[in-house]
Parts: sequence; structure tokens; C-alpha cells
Amino acid sequence: MNTVIEKLLSLDTPQERKIIAQGADIIRRGGLVVFPTETVYGLGADATNPWAAKHIYEAKGRPSDNPLIIHIAHPHEAALYAVTSPTYDMLTAAFMPGPLTVIMPVRPIIPSEVTAGLPTVAVRCPEHPVARALIAAAGVPIAAPSANLSGRPSPTCAAHVIEDMQGRVDMILDGGASEIGLESTIVKIEEDGGLLLLRPGGITPADLASVGCRVRIASAVTDALKAGETVISPGMKYRHYAPQAPLFLLDGTIEARIDFLAKRFKALQAEGKTLTVLTYNEEAVLLQRALPEISLLLMGNCDNEHAQAHALFDLLRQTDSLNTHELYAPLPRCEGMGLALYNRMIRAAAHQIIRL
Ligand code: TXA
Ligand code: MG
Repeated sequence: MNTVIEKLLSLDTPQERKIIAQGADIIRRGGLVVFPTETVYGLGADATNPWAAKHIYEAKGRPSDNPLIIHIAHPHEAALYAVTSPTYDMLTAAFMPGPLTVIMPVRPIIPSEVTAGLPTVAVRCPEHPVARALIAAAGVPIAAPSANLSGRPSPTCAAHVIEDMQGRVDMILDGGASEIGLESTIVKIEEDGGLLLLRPGGITPADLASVGCRVRIASAVTDALKAGETVISPGMKYRHYAPQAPLFLLDGTIEARIDFLAKRFKALQAEGKTLTVLTYNEEAVLLQRALPEISLLLMGNCDNEHAQAHALFDLLRQTDSLNTHELYAPLPRCEGMGLALYNRMIRAAAHQIIRL
């Protein structure tokens, strides 16, 4: 398939508006368009067209029991596709458009190919102007998972998308780097009007509580699934973001981590192998002084979880081009934006946490 790649850094010029019109036309005809959002890039198709939805699964290599998020241009449009409620209105007023996805009972207009046969649908109104312009011009909701091949980190810039999707989609809209860099927060509205957090993201549990929502955190957000356990969000059960070299998360002080890494480095060196460490910027000098031969990747400042979120998926992709045998990173804390980092990193590490 020939993939048209277009740069769209604003929507100001007639040429840029023409590109949006072309993308919208592809969507209406059942094709696939990758577009930028403030979280990660999405692989979009007409959410009301079952065949188009099937093409998304094929292009990603995604299991068809993992449902898609539908993207709308205005929060009020959700009522066309889902059964909304006062809780939804509350979320809309506080957080939409933005990095929040809400799961509600589905209306029949959305085909089962999109919901993977569930009685609910996930709805999101992104804030990114290119995403909103594309959805509005298409005139249909756009079903879009993250635009990565299944099992790879979500793409946070056009280069990542091109790596995974060139030749598999009709068009890629390059809107620059994604501002947040981790996928949206997903909440399910429960029958009593409370929220069940299924995936942490840019909107934190504290943000949700601050507008009067009752929030429960699904155990799969922080814990490994037990054998035979059923999940509410099918995406939770798949291995995610797996780098080629195994990743281990170190839980301990910088001194304890340096000590551990020094021993591990020596043991691997004896076998002719190497390791790579993802580190906070402030700790890089300490690590480099203690272990000059170790290769380091910088994650951002220790207390700047937004910077770390922004960098994480790019770093995980970079590790795949390094000739390294083991990867180590500090275990993030489970609060605020840290919870989203923790959730992605324990999956990338297949829950391998080393307590020091
Ligand atoms: O930030 C984002 O959310 C990005 C951008 C493109 O919007 N999209 C994204 O989509 O991350 P995806 O498909 O990679 O992740 C969506 C997750 C999956 O884990 C899926 O299982 C879950 O949402 N999901 C979708 N519909 C659901 C439903 N009805 N019930 C429970 N979980 C659902
Ligand atoms: Mg994804």
C-alpha cells in the first residue's frame, strides 16, 4: 500500500486545510489515517464502518478481542454513540477535550468490530487541533488505537509511526511530538456513578477526585494478573511495550542501585555481555563516576514525571537499536503522573521488580 505522509504543524494555510480534507475523505471511504493527538498517535478509521475497523486490527497485528476507542470532535457527540450520564457531564466539564477516555454503555450504531462484542464503548475527545479537525471534517467518529504495531511502544512522533506503519496505512499526518507521551487515562462509569480507573494517564486519580468523582483503581493497574483472572479492559492482559532486551526495575536508593549494577555489570562482562541503564538526569553523574563503562539513557529530572512520561516510549524504542543484553531503570513512585509511568514500566518489564 502506498502511504502518503504529510506534515501538518498548523491548520492555518489552504494547503494544510486541503490535507485535512483529503484525510477526512480517506476515512469516509473506509481507509486508514494515522493522526497526532496530545497523548500518542492514533491509527484511525470510520468507527461506524465494520470493515474499516477490521483493517485497523490487520494493520496493527492486533488481536480482534481488544476493543478500540472512538474519537469525537466535541464532548456532547458522545450521546450519539453511548448512553451518557450526569457523571459523564461532570467529566466533560472538567477534562474534555483532553487525555481522558470514558467507557459507557454502547448504542447500536457502533459495530461490534469496534467494541470487540462488549456492551460498552470507550469514548475520547482529544484536544490536539489536527485530531479534532480531522474528526470534524470526516463527520463520523474515528476509531483509533495507538498507531504502533501490536506489542511495540505507542508512537509519540511521526518517525515512530513511519517505522511501524509505512505501507500499512493510506496516510500519516505528522503533527510533531506528542505533548504528553503516554496514552489517555481510561475510566469506566459504574452503575452507581462512580469511576473505575482502568489505565492511568495524564488525568490523575487526584484530578478526578478533585471534581467530586469517586474513583476506584482496578487492581490490574499496578499488579500482575493472576492465572485465570478475567479483566475488565481486554488490553490489560496483553504483553505491552516489551523491549528486546529484558527490562528490570530497581527499587532502592541510588547507593543500593549503584552497588547492584556494579555487581551485575561484572557478572555480565565475564560472559561478554553488556547492560544499559535508564536513569534520572541528576543521578547520571553519580552512576557514570561509579561505573564509567556503563551506557546510560537519560529519562528526565527525578521530580519531573511529565518529562519522564514524554521521553519513555522513545527511550524504549531506542533500546531496541542498542546491542545490549539487560536493561535497568528505577521503579517509579505510584502517585500522580508517576502512577501512569509505573503502569507502563511494569508492563515493559513484565513485572520484574528487584527490591534492593
Ligand atoms: O491516548 C489514547 O488513548 C490513544 C490515542 C490514540 O487516543 N489510544 C489508545 O488506544 O491508547 P489503544 O487501543 O492502544 O488502547 C485502548 C485501551 C485498550 O487497552 C482496550 O482494551 C481498552 O482501551 N478498551 C477499549 N474499549 C474498551 C471497553 N469497551 N471496555 C474496556 N476497555 C476498553
Ligand atoms: Mg495501544
